[in-house]
Amino acid sequence: MAEVYINHHPLVQHKITRLRDKTTGTNEFRSLVEEIGMLMGYEALSDLPTEEIEIETPLEVTPSPVIAGRKLAVVPILRAGLGMVSGIQALVPTAKVGHIGLYRDPETHEPIEYYCKLPSPIEERVIVVTDPMLATGGSACDALKLIKQHGGRKIKFMCIIAAPEGLERLKKEHPDVQIYVGHLDRQLNENAYILPGLGDAGDRIFGTK
Ligand code: PRP
Ligand code: URA
Repeated sequence: MAEVYINHHPLVQHKITRLRDKTTGTNEFRSLVEEIGMLMGYEALSDLPTEEIEIETPLEVTPSPVIAGRKLAVVPILRAGLGMVSGIQALVPTAKVGHIGLYRDPETHEPIEYYCKLPSPIEERVIVVTDPMLATGGSACDALKLIKQHGGRKIKFMCIIAAPEGLERLKKEHPDVQIYVGHLDRQLNENAYILPGLGDAGDRIFGTK
């Protein structure tokens, strides 16, 4: 059974409200996506394994925890997932970054893959996949399938807004993935856009149309 964490933090909810506002411009939108990436990343990484090392404070020698094992991998789904990466890098500057390029066909809404480059070895890393929008779930499910084909095992998926349809699909197809959601919205419209949503995340982050 997939673990799903729906965020209720007032700071995250406040920033999501700013994102939804159609008058919020590209500059502010990009900063908000980065900040939400950091706040949600803080929550999603709370179960990272640690190990004790011995260090010397100015007063004495003491055991103290550090992050154990191979460092994190962050894998944004292009384009919009890129916006969340710097927020997570602010928390874990040593994280490696992979990229998966997918776009939705405007007619069928099916994801089309155009790029995949992942840090190696991927097997032992905790992998955080980022995409602000989980709509039908097609892009997220395909990205997770690709990562698993490359050997990825410990995977977390982080989105800012999810539609119930996409969340159900993701839980069903990838029950082993931990899912972090900033806000669960009402439904998809006839064009598979999330309602109330925030519009096209990629266009709003990068100022395209
Ligand atoms: C958006 C979004 C997700 C996808 C979600 O990307 O960033 O990747 O749609 O929809 P789904 O759950 O129905 O697959 P888009 O295809 O618009 O590409 P872009 O980020 O390059 O604009
Ligand atoms: N992709 C977006 O950017 N927004 C949506 O509402 C759905 C898919």
